[in-house]
Formats: sequence, structure tokens, C-alpha cells
Amino acid sequence: MQSQLNFTEEVKNNTSDIYKRIKNFVPDIEWPFVAPYIYEINKLKKETNSVILAHNYQTPQIFYGVADIVGDSLALAIKAAEVKEENIIMCGVHFMAETAKIMSPEKKVYLPDMRAGCSLAASITGEDIRKLKKQHPGVPVVTYVNTTADVKAETDICCTSANAVKVVESLGVKKVIFLPDEYLAKYVASKTNVEIISWHGKCEVHEKFSEKEIHELRKNYPDLTIIAHPECPPDVINASDFAGSTSHMVNYVKEKKPKNVFLVTECSMSDNVEIENPDVNFVKPCNLCPHMKSIELPKILDCLKNKTNEILIDFDTINRARSSIERMIAIGRQD
Ligand code: 13P
Ligand code: SF4
Repeated sequence: MQSQLNFTEEVKNNTSDIYKRIKNFVPDIEWPFVAPYIYEINKLKKETNSVILAHNYQTPQIFYGVADIVGDSLALAIKAAEVKEENIIMCGVHFMAETAKIMSPEKKVYLPDMRAGCSLAASITGEDIRKLKKQHPGVPVVTYVNTTADVKAETDICCTSANAVKVVESLGVKKVIFLPDEYLAKYVASKTNVEIISWHGKCEVHEKFSEKEIHELRKNYPDLTIIAHPECPPDVINASDFAGSTSHMVNYVKEKKPKNVFLVTECSMSDNVEIENPDVNFVKPCNLCPHMKSIELPKILDCLKNKTNEILIDFDTINRARSSIERMIAIGRQD
């Protein structure tokens, strides 16, 4: 790992505004070890013409400390196509870095830890899709963006949880193949008359939440607003007040300012939203995504310094996958 990163006066002064924002999430005793990384990353980012994109599930130190652009999967896909810098560091998981490369093939895209996968992306292959297409000839394939480039290359149109229903309905057909998240497929099926052929993929983080947990929390906090991610099991979604993507959650809290809120999703989400909404009380039983959490400041610095972990995808796959993402971006976000 890095050596000789000291908490100098210059580092302290240059990072003091960041610390003010995130101090509830980084203990005092740890800051002298964290701040030099933040300082060094921000310096090197400019010197190397790099931009850092970070998903809403990244820790506050990354989200508020070094990221230039933050958001949900849809926002990151859109921004990856627009950034001007030569190098993109994706603080998220592998499929997000691949999506950035597909949208900006002329740029170099780096993922600070190549093991940052996703149980949904791992649940299905391009070969699985080819078989499904043979079983259901002519039925369009809608694929959640949480999939590999190979899968996207076999896909008609991608979606995220921020626009899944809108994407399915945009096709104007009676039936779609919707992959790979079984729970998101059920959520979409509950909102549309389009028939959904689904797959058995699940998010290892969201599938752990239970309806019982929701009911227990309601007993303890009678005025609790519960917002679930659509990757949660259907009974959890039904027991919640609202379901939406990570950006929908951000907007809901910002606009409605609930007194007590429980975001049924990954742990860092509540921390990041709390920093912007100090007047809202966040109730926080949560589940960690080990893949998102494998992204750490020293690994980001290593990417910038040594150009490690570059995402490489062959041109044929990029070209076949890109139209499915472009079609999704053209549909836009669902309110
Ligand atoms: P969003 O698209 O809502 O940001 O979710 C991405 C994800 O990985 C959820 O687990
Ligand atoms: Fe994948 Fe779930 Fe982690 Fe999101 S939270 S990256 S869907 S494993």
C-alpha cells in the first residue's frame, strides 16, 4: 500500500471543510489517516486529468471526500458518456465501470477493486440470454443495468430501478423478457399490464430484509416513513410506504422531510443522505454490500498513481452493448 502519507498542516487545512461535513461518520482518531488520502487523491485527480464517479452506496469519505459526480446507476451511466476528462475512476461495482467504458470507449476507465462484483450481474450470462431468446422468439429482452457487458450485448434495452416500468411500457408490446432480478421483475409486473418473463437473480443485500423487520420497526417508531429499494422482496415493498431507486430515496427525503425515516437498502445510503438532511432522523438497521465496500481510498489512490485495474472490453461487445444503454438513456427517468 502507500507509504509516507502524513497529516501535515497543508493536508489539515485543505481537508477541513470536508471533515466538517463527514465528521459524524469518521471518528476523530481516524481522520489523520483518512485526510492524507483524500488530499492526495484530489491533487492527483487534477494532475492526471481524471474524474471520480461514485455510487450512492459509497462511504461518506469517498462520496463527499473525493467524488466529482455522485448518483444512482442511471445518473452514473448518463454522466459517464458526458465527462471530458481522459480517465474515469468508478467508485462502484464492476458492471458500473463496464457501463462507463461502453459509454465512453475512448476513455480509460478504472475500478479500484476488480473483485467488486454484484450478485445480480453474476446470476446470468450472455449464453443464458441466447437460450431464453430461442425459447421466446420475438419477445424483447429488457435487462437491468446490473449485468455484464456480454449480457448487455444480447439485450434490446437496459433499465435501472429508476425507470424499469417506463422502459417496459415504452416498448409497446404485450410481453417482455425482464432480467435478471426476480424481485424487480415482480415489482414491475405489479405496476404494468405487460406480461413479464423473469429470471432467478437476487441482490444479496436487499434479499436479506424481511417483512417481520419492517413490522417490528413500525411498532418501535409509530411515525416512521419506510422507503424500500425495488430489489427488496415483494412483502418488504408492500409493507413499506414507498419504493424507489437510490435517487428516488434521496429526492423523497429532501422534498418530504419525514420526521423518522428508514431506507431499506445499503448502509452508506442513509449516512450520505443524512449529511444533506440533518433535521431528519434516520433509523438505521441496514445491510452492507461487500462489493461496494471493497472500494477504499488507498485503492483509489493506487488507480490514479499506477493506472491499475483498467476495464478492457473488446470493441465488438462494446458496440453491441452500447445501443441497449443508449435506448435506456433516451427513455429517461421515471418520477
Ligand atoms: P440504483 O440504480 O438505485 O442506484 O441501485 C443500484 C444498486 O446496485 C442497488 O443495489
Ligand atoms: Fe449488486 Fe446488491 Fe451490491 Fe447493488 S447492493 S451492487 S445489486 S449486490
